[in-house]
Amino acid sequence: MNILLVGSGGREHALAWKIAQSSKLTRLVCAPGNPGMAALGELRAIKPTDVAALVALAEEIEADLVVIGPEVAVEAGLADRLAVVGIPCFGPTAAAGRLESSKAFTKAFAERHHLPTAAFAVFEEPAPAKAYLDRFTAPYVIKADGLAAGKGVVIAASRAEAEAAIDDMLGGAFGGAGARVVIEEFMTGEEVSLFALADGKTSILFGAAQDHKRAYDGDKGPNTGGMGTYSPAPILTPMLTEQARLALIEPTVKGIAAEGAPYRGVLYAGLMLTPAGAKLVEYNARFGDPECQVLMLRLKSDLVPYLLASATGNLADMPEPAWRNEAAICVVLAAEGYPEAPKAGTVITGADADFGPDVVVFHAGTARDDQGRLVAAGGRVLNVCARGADLAEARAKAYAAIGQIDWPEGFHRTDIGWRALAR
Ligand code: AMP
Ligand code: GLY
Repeated sequence: MNILLVGSGGREHALAWKIAQSSKLTRLVCAPGNPGMAALGELRAIKPTDVAALVALAEEIEADLVVIGPEVAVEAGLADRLAVVGIPCFGPTAAAGRLESSKAFTKAFAERHHLPTAAFAVFEEPAPAKAYLDRFTAPYVIKADGLAAGKGVVIAASRAEAEAAIDDMLGGAFGGAGARVVIEEFMTGEEVSLFALADGKTSILFGAAQDHKRAYDGDKGPNTGGMGTYSPAPILTPMLTEQARLALIEPTVKGIAAEGAPYRGVLYAGLMLTPAGAKLVEYNARFGDPECQVLMLRLKSDLVPYLLASATGNLADMPEPAWRNEAAICVVLAAEGYPEAPKAGTVITGADADFGPDVVVFHAGTARDDQGRLVAAGGRVLNVCARGADLAEARAKAYAAIGQIDWPEGFHRTDIGWRALAR
């Protein structure tokens, strides 16, 4: 098969790494890809939102499958345009992708289909939005409706902070993404990420992970896209998983098809494990980053048949995926200043070393400078991933590898996995 993979982060490097191991693969082209992915496939410098150029590339390479990594390509309608030219696409249409691209859509969808989630209301004007805060006590949860690169959620510790967030968002701080705000009940519990593949009608579970969203040790500091992950997530028991599948995944896949927007691709449910069971925090229309990295390290089955079955409506014929009976961890190395103002261009050495069969270093935000040296070119720069008999062993291997990478201008958390290890 010829496969076009869209995206350039650690998630896409992990997908490329797993796709490259497939017996089904003839040719892998990555657009735009990154220096790490260059060893696995051909790179083409096309942005994930340049739908016309991506469709032309898919036709040029006679792609049998296009795999969408990032949500911006979903929102741009890449799957819609590929459907017109008859090329199978792993990743939902823009309409089905509203499960991620519009929080207001998703909350209303959850209400229509009785999915367990936080109480909420949607506002376009500040005054009624502020009045609605009366129903709750601090902390308040204020969200911009649209895609805001993970920055559109404010958990406000005080009423004043909540009102300021409402003014900011409705005042244009996030452009069109903040034209509407969602205000919702604060849920308490531990968060976990559950993944399912869907083919428009059928869904199958595809692993779970937990991540650490705060920048610094002890879950302190600013929110980020994720500083590390591990899988499995022991807190998500088989019973909770089944509850989430029955109460969320199945009715969502059936419901969105019944509304005329069948969902194909990976559905990523951000769950809050509350005292009243698993509730939906949010949906994402793509793999998590860096959750995907640990799933790929643990996946024993060939990934490609699952991606193709999801794209072509044949998931019902697929067996449950097989997972290694091992734990996997991913530790993110970020550039100094991340998330506010990551420093670019600093030189990294030692990341290409051979760390043994259980350690893989994925590139998330790197580039080559004019001397061919590896340099930082993003906030989250490298993902050091490892497998082990248990989480403690995987973690020891990942941190040992990090110790051999020389990058003074980078930082990482030293406590990834602490919740599961403390249990
Ligand atoms: P989201 O982008 O919707 O996943 O929100 C980002 C983060 O904000 C989540 O991962 C949670 O940690 C937190 N969060 C969002 N909604 C709620 C809620 N209703 N209650 C508590 N925490 C929330
Ligand atoms: N790691 C969280 C996300 O991908 O949204």
